[in-house]
Amino acid sequence: MDAREMKIKAAEAALSHVEDGMRLGIGTGSTAEEFVRLLAERVAGGLKVEGVPTSERTARLCVELGVPLKSLDELPELDLTIDGADEVDGRLSLIKGGGGALLREKIVASASTRMIVIADESKVVETLGAFKLPIEVNPFGLAATRIAIEKAAARLGLSGAIVLRASGDGTFMTDGGHYILDASFGLIPDADALASSLNDIPGVVEHGLFINMASLAIIAGPAGARTLT
Ligand code: 5RP
Repeated sequence: MDAREMKIKAAEAALSHVEDGMRLGIGTGSTAEEFVRLLAERVAGGLKVEGVPTSERTARLCVELGVPLKSLDELPELDLTIDGADEVDGRLSLIKGGGGALLREKIVASASTRMIVIADESKVVETLGAFKLPIEVNPFGLAATRIAIEKAAARLGLSGAIVLRASGDGTFMTDGGHYILDASFGLIPDADALASSLNDIPGVVEHGLFINMASLAIIAGPAGARTLT
């Protein structure tokens, strides 16, 4: 089974949690997009759901495939969000934001009764942090915010390069008009403490540590899908 087939397996398993009438948060990334493709087939077959996309990219795919969309203002309370992750540990703590959609992803997941993570085995880790931690920041005061992040990390014994994310033609800009700093802190033994410290920095809009948000993770490997709870 190749990587794409594993993503499809995880997405298929997540689809079994979707019921008629649900208000769905719809994640961002290649795994979430496999979910959108499968969901669109079910919608074409008569399933009635309304989705709130977590990015413009996901919104475009949903529109193209005929998945009915609402804004989060129209549907401020959601039944279920299904989204991918860059890392997931045994407590279902996540690193997200590799695709740059972490702010909307976190807002949408927070508005949902349940969040199901879909991923392949490569995303499962014992301790978060091998993946660079995405931190969404306001462009104003970028240098000051970076220093504040470095100091907050140092207080927790963490250090490493903090790099402004680039895109082909310049600086990467999120759907919300912010920048992303990718922090190579290495393994993060106390993700809760780092999350709290980052939350206290005014220039930090949001960070990619999703703690106590996921209710279930569906992990697909060569032998099939398993769940982490
Ligand atoms: C986007 C995300 C994605 O869920 C994460 O990057 C995983 O993406 P993929 O399924 O392509 O590996 O957090 O902001």
